[in-house]
Amino acid sequence: MQVITVAARKGGVGKTTLATHLSVLATQPGDRPVLLFDVDPQRSLAWWWKLRTKDTPHLIECDARELPKILDVARREGVAYAIIDTPPHAENSISEAMRVADHVLVPTRPGPFDLAAVATTLDLAQRIGKNPLAIINAAPPRTGSLEPSIVLEARLLLQRMGARVAETVISQRVALSHAIISGSTVGEYEPQGRAATEIAALWAEIIREPLKVAA
Ligand SMILES: Nc1ncnc2c1ncn2[C@@H]1O[C@H](COP(=O)(O)OP(=O)(O)OP(=O)(O)O)[C@@H](O)[C@H]1O
Ligand SMILES: [Mg+2]
Repeated sequence: MQVITVAARKGGVGKTTLATHLSVLATQPGDRPVLLFDVDPQRSLAWWWKLRTKDTPHLIECDARELPKILDVARREGVAYAIIDTPPHAENSISEAMRVADHVLVPTRPGPFDLAAVATTLDLAQRIGKNPLAIINAAPPRTGSLEPSIVLEARLLLQRMGARVAETVISQRVALSHAIISGSTVGEYEPQGRAATEIAALWAEIIREPLKVAA
């Protein structure tokens, strides 16, 4: 079982959005089950899950302190992936969810205030002994083959902070929100769309990453 925690102390950067869209991609028919964990008292993930007509992935709403016990059971039950959506600001919950993770994903928007704030989350992950993967989310879409300058600058800054940065950038796309309000994900809602392609590329990148731990 691989445990993927999506964390950022800053609010509204796309934690729940990424957890949602990635979780359905992780769920392949006939494969071992995928568990989604909502440890955010806002319960945004649960709100989306209740809109779903499909009963996969499975959802668990709990407190971050309960994660180690529940994950032990999940491991024994043959769960393939556990994807954990965390609250903003709540350092204790974020730390608990990072501690149990094989992959720590840290989404950030590419704006200056977002990048100024992301360092504390990256530091927290590193202090816990994880090697977080920063994901640039809600970026202006590419207009040609080059990345928009705001994305290039964000990537450089994140690298200077010592972070690994996902090659795949998730653009600001309305399809990601439209899918959510219909209880689905972009892979289900608009499978040939550009948002679905980006999410699929990000998932491929995450699962081919070796499970590294910071030195
Ligand atoms: N790539 C994107 N394209 C379009 N809209 C996006 C994108 N990423 C996030 N959003 C929108 O931005 C808002 C915040 O996203 P989301 O709720 O996923 O962030 P969050 O980090 O989980 O927030 P919180 O800290 O409050 O839990 C939502 O309305 C979501 O639909
Ligand atoms: Mg959220």
